[in-house]
Amino acid sequence: MSYPDNNTEDYSSTISQAELNRIEKLAAEVTCPLPLDATQRDVLFQRAAALLAEKNAVLVAHYYVDDDLQALALETGGHVADSLEMARFGHASDADLLVVAGVRFMGETAKILNPEKRVLMVEDDATCSLDLSCPIDRFSQFCDAHPDRKVVVYANTSAEVKARSDWVVTSGIALDIVSHLTARGEKLIWAPDRHLGDYIREQTGADMLLWGGICVVHDEYRSHELQEMKQRYPDAKVLVHPESPRDVIKLADVVGSTTALINAVKTLEARRFIVATDRGIFFKMREAAGSGKELLEAPTKGVGATCTSCGHCPWMAMNSLERLVDVLEHGGREVVIDGPVREKAVIPIQRMLDFAAARDARLRGGNLA
Ligand code: 13P
Ligand code: SF4
Repeated sequence: MSYPDNNTEDYSSTISQAELNRIEKLAAEVTCPLPLDATQRDVLFQRAAALLAEKNAVLVAHYYVDDDLQALALETGGHVADSLEMARFGHASDADLLVVAGVRFMGETAKILNPEKRVLMVEDDATCSLDLSCPIDRFSQFCDAHPDRKVVVYANTSAEVKARSDWVVTSGIALDIVSHLTARGEKLIWAPDRHLGDYIREQTGADMLLWGGICVVHDEYRSHELQEMKQRYPDAKVLVHPESPRDVIKLADVVGSTTALINAVKTLEARRFIVATDRGIFFKMREAAGSGKELLEAPTKGVGATCTSCGHCPWMAMNSLERLVDVLEHGGREVVIDGPVREKAVIPIQRMLDFAAARDARLRGGNLA
C-alpha cells in the first residue's frame, strides 16, 4: 500500500493501518466462483433470461462483473454501466424489480432513488473496501470536528454515510462537482478514497481534507512495473482509473471513470492500450476497441500482496449466473433502507444527478453550437 508523503496528515487519524489490514484480509478471503463449462453457461443464461422476463425485472450490471452477466443485461433490456449511469438507469426504468449485479452500495443507491421498486442484489455479500473503510460513527465524528466544511462522499459508501453528506459523487462527475464547489469558495471533506481525493485535490486546487480509505484492487497497481511495461510497448496509451496510487496516475495518458476509459479506447488513434482498472472492463472495452486495437492489463504487485492482487475485485467476482438464477428462483433478501436514512441520503444523490443532467445539457448545447 502506498502513502503519498505530503498528504499523510490528512488521513492518518481517520483509519488505522490495522483496520486497513483487516479489510485487505477480508478481500483476500473471498472465494470466487468456479468457471462454468459452455453447456452449464447456456442453460443458466437462458433460465436467467426467462426469469427476468417473467418477473418484469431488469438486470443492471457494472462493467466489472462477469462477462456473462454483462451479456445477459444487454440481451434482456437491462444496462451495463459505471456507477453514475447505473444510478441513472435504475431511476428511469419502469421495471418492478431491479436486480443489481455489482456491489452493495450500488444496490443501496438504486433503492434510495427508487423506494417504490423492489431491489435485489445478485450477491448480497458483495461489498467494497471503500465502503468498509468508512463506518458512519467515526465518519460523523470527523465531519462534526470540521463543521465549516461541506461533505463530499464517493458513491462507494453506505446509505448512512451518504445521508451525512452534502454531495455524493462518482468518479465520472467528481472533478466537475469539486471544481464547482471550489469556485464557490467552499472548503471540503472528501471520503473515503484517498487516491481519488488526492487526484481531485491536485487537479482542482480544492481545500479538501481526505479520509484514508483505499480500493484493494486499484491500490495494487505499481508504477515501477508500469514504467517497464511502457518501455516495452512505447506506442501504447496508458489508461488509469483514479482510485489508483498517485505515482501510477502520473504515468497515465487518460485518467477517468470506467466509462471514460472505454471511450478513450474508442476515440484515441493508438493501436495498443495498457489498462489500470479491474479486468472486468475488458468485456465492453474489447467491443469499443474493435479488431485493430490491443488491450493489455497493467501490472499489479502480484505475489506477496495482501489482496490476491489479480486486477479483479473479489466482491464484483462473487456475482455469477448461478447466483442470479438462485436469487430469481428463490427470492433473495431485498435491499432495505431505513426510512429516515433514505430521506436524507436521496438529497445529495439527487443533487449529483441534477448536476450531471445540467452538465450534460450544457455539453450537448455546446456541441450543437
Ligand atoms: P466507476 O464509477 O468508474 O464505475 O467506478 C466504480 C468503482 O467501484 C471503481 O472501482
Ligand atoms: Fe470497491 Fe475497489 Fe471493488 Fe470498486 S473495485 S467495488 S472500489 S473494492
